[in-house]
Amino acid sequence: MINQETIQKILDATQIVDVIGEFVSLRRRGANYVACCPFHDEKTPSFSVSPSKGIFKCFGCGKGGDAVHFIMEHEHLSYPEALKWLAAKYHIDVVEKEETAEEIASRMKSESMMLVNEFAAKYFAKTLLDTPEGRAVGLSYFREKRRLREDTIRLFGLGYSPAKRDSFAKEAIANGYKPEFLTATGLCIEKENGGGLYDRFFERVIFPIHSLSGRVIAFGGRTLKADKTIAKYVNSPESEIYLKRRSLYGIYFAKGEISKKDKCLLVEGYLDVISMHQAGITNVVASSGTSLTTEQIRLIRRFTSNITILYDGDSAGIKASLRGIDLVLEEGMNVKIVLIPDGDDPDSFSMKHTREEVEEFISGHEQDFIDFKASLLLEEAGDDPRKRAGLINNISTSIAVIPDAIARSLYAERCAAMFGIEPDLVFERVRTLREEKKARESTKAQSPAMSRTVQETKADESRHEGRKEETYGEDGLINDRFFAPCEKEIAYYLVKFGDEKLKFPPGSVEYDPENPDYTVTVAEYIKNSMSEDGLEMRNRLYSEIYDEYFRNAPVYGKEIISYFLHHPNENIAEETLDYVYDRHVITIKEFADTVPDETATLSETVPKLMCIYKSKVVDAMLREITEEIASAQKENDREKIEGLTGKFMRISGLKNYYSKLLKRLTI
Ligand code: CTP
Ligand code: MN
Repeated sequence: MINQETIQKILDATQIVDVIGEFVSLRRRGANYVACCPFHDEKTPSFSVSPSKGIFKCFGCGKGGDAVHFIMEHEHLSYPEALKWLAAKYHIDVVEKEETAEEIASRMKSESMMLVNEFAAKYFAKTLLDTPEGRAVGLSYFREKRRLREDTIRLFGLGYSPAKRDSFAKEAIANGYKPEFLTATGLCIEKENGGGLYDRFFERVIFPIHSLSGRVIAFGGRTLKADKTIAKYVNSPESEIYLKRRSLYGIYFAKGEISKKDKCLLVEGYLDVISMHQAGITNVVASSGTSLTTEQIRLIRRFTSNITILYDGDSAGIKASLRGIDLVLEEGMNVKIVLIPDGDDPDSFSMKHTREEVEEFISGHEQDFIDFKASLLLEEAGDDPRKRAGLINNISTSIAVIPDAIARSLYAERCAAMFGIEPDLVFERVRTLREEKKARESTKAQSPAMSRTVQETKADESRHEGRKEETYGEDGLINDRFFAPCEKEIAYYLVKFGDEKLKFPPGSVEYDPENPDYTVTVAEYIKNSMSEDGLEMRNRLYSEIYDEYFRNAPVYGKEIISYFLHHPNENIAEETLDYVYDRHVITIKEFADTVPDETATLSETVPKLMCIYKSKVVDAMLREITEEIASAQKENDREKIEGLTGKFMRISGLKNYYSKLLKRLTI
């Protein structure tokens, strides 16, 4: 955790034009700067930066925020990582909240291991490019056999480890690196009789493996020998800094393009990634050395929900694709499959073709999982009914893992259409598969007592089901669609005009002859108005803004808007940014008719807004009671009906009151 004082220092030092200017070429236009948006493809600039407000906003794709948010979005960093990025740029020492001794020790160890790796990466790269052995063996291999260009070799930091079995160990020790970290990273291995270290990688070309943020966490080394008894690849062992199932080769170089293209290409090996990159296709990563894992898929999901698996068309490639499909679908992502034909792999294929050809090939041969499975197996199944049934079952298994019910049913329909059968048959099959899976999971994961509790909650839920669907949203709150526009409006006035004063002229509804000079701030007025009727904001975003406002306004005063714009929660920052940019669109019909000159007419608009809000709340309450009455009638519960009817009358009275008030306010 970075401490608050440091955060403030960083924010104070940060010049947004300076920061964004590192990535985008900005042109001045009036008080602002404009550019083509780095977050989506466009030809005319709709990306605008305001140096005075310290914020950016793209009017094309809607992204916006302060410099920290820009770095988070552009470099795919977390909030603290982005702050550190800025701290480094402005030479600010980052003071973190105190860590425990254990945390410090583990951070130091990981850091030391990465430093060793980075030293090793430099050593291997230098050996490749600057030593006679490296050039003769390694570099000529990359250049001639793999047809890699020098810029590609440098970008990926490729290297070479000499044939002598301890050349790296010696070099590292001579440079002061501790044996402890040389072995922890797996770069070196201790000799059995304690006689020093030798190297894991020797006489191999080296592929450094980078973390998401570009640190070197491991290496892969490929032998240059055709000898089948020598392992083709040797890789770093798993360690604190390298978990195979969580890393993807190439992710650091691909992440920007993956989110820009909203698509990730997944290949098998180091050289597939590198060659595709060299061909100009850069949204590519490889699972390298493990079969694809759920963790890897989730890593990709941070940038896109579209994965295209690009494997060899041989049987191993097909098997791997089939395995990958369900994993991707299970994570709620879209998966397409492209098989590379004629004994090629993405590496050799991209070497033979131009970038346009490769791109065309991919877009022309992408199949979704249903087409893919069908095309693999349909021919073999022919008209044999048993085999066709087997294939339908096989496809249903994949459909069954999709978390989203709508997507599931669409795929089920498509599958039925493809085989010319009743959709119900596929639905039924998918349902059975899901139930079987659920049963398996619950017997696995739950003690008898726990599963009973779950059963009970389920029964409870189904009892309320009818009502739940109509009036309750996902959070179990009353559906916020009736209130959200009003609550947005309330949040807007709070954030933008919270400390402006309201004064009510004689004749206005709020005018109090006993206290003619009564003034109140917008924020106080809103708060009083909410609490006199015991109301709370229901929409999660607006209620967070509401609470945050009252928590922080006393501290920030007039600066509260900047507090919101720098808010670590991006949703809040983006929302309030819209308020500042005046792109705020009023969505309440009754309100839009009389859109005022804002600041001048606050004394009229704010009471009116609260009145509209309350009349909507009353409406929703009436709707709810009507439903309750209907169900009480079904149960013939006279007492309940009477009680509810009384309540209905009372609230109807309130509705009339607010309707009249609203009429007076809107004249
Ligand atoms: N791999 C590995 N260990 C092996 C073989 C393969 O870790 N013994 C991993 C490597 O990450 C490799 C990927 O699996 O990149 C794909 O293997 P393969 O297709 O055999 O290697 P390529 O990278 O395609 O190498 P080449 O084109 O030189 O054969
Ligand atoms: Mn290959």
